Amino acid sequence: MNRKRVPIKIFENDLPASIDVAKRIAKVMLEKKATGKPAVLGLATGNTPVKMYRELIRMHQEEKLDFSDVITFNLDEYWPIRPSSLQSYHIFMHETFFKHINIDTKNIHIPSGEWREEEIDTRCREYEELIIENGGIDVQILGIGRSGHIGFNEPGSERDSRTRMLYLDKKTRLDAASGFSGEKNVPKMAITMGVGTIMEAHEICLMAFGEKKASIIRRAAEDDISSTVSASFLREHSNTTFYLDKSASEELTPLCPP
Ligand code: GLP
Repeated sequence: MNRKRVPIKIFENDLPASIDVAKRIAKVMLEKKATGKPAVLGLATGNTPVKMYRELIRMHQEEKLDFSDVITFNLDEYWPIRPSSLQSYHIFMHETFFKHINIDTKNIHIPSGEWREEEIDTRCREYEELIIENGGIDVQILGIGRSGHIGFNEPGSERDSRTRMLYLDKKTRLDAASGFSGEKNVPKMAITMGVGTIMEAHEICLMAFGEKKASIIRRAAEDDISSTVSASFLREHSNTTFYLDKSASEELTPLCPP
């Protein structure tokens, strides 16, 4: 059993937490610029990071935060799905973030839901190689699914798993059902960076908000480190912080008695 705790920051609600993560990203972008190298960001989808993206957009518009040389790699995408489909993570990222900032579209990388089945292994390997060629991910943003997944690393995803295609967990498909007008329309598969890929990021910020995330956050932060909850592996990463609102932190064991 390994009860190593990850650093956890708890905020009154999701807004100050999102602003804190956005500030961290902006700081890394400026530090990288000072060294003459572009920042490499690992990005996530879902409701959780939306306010963080809004804050980065505000910083771009009001404070001239410059994304012109920033390189991004997204965690995952449903498979199969057309990039133009409303539910695709391509559309989500474009609408929520990319179209509001001055990023160069050639620097945006998202696994494609249109990769043909027979080419997926090669494309996934190339995705990994591209991350390495760009010097690795400086900051990786993560949400967490109720199945404990990071990216789409569902239960059973091992510590050394790499970018690949996999089957989605029942809970994940249920949670996505409303966006697809019913569970039966949710793709059964997805392409995701692996746990091993994520663990190579220099810094990881996992965000979780709301009481629906409280139980999985407790399991990720306090239960055994195992592939049953892929987020638990983050406790073996030397530079990971959990950014939580009060509700998501409610089931954590207090470290000091009141
Ligand atoms: C999806 C994504 C994850 C995300 C999770 C949580 O499954 N693949 O990267 O963390 O949803 O979504 P939400 O932030 O909407 O709760």
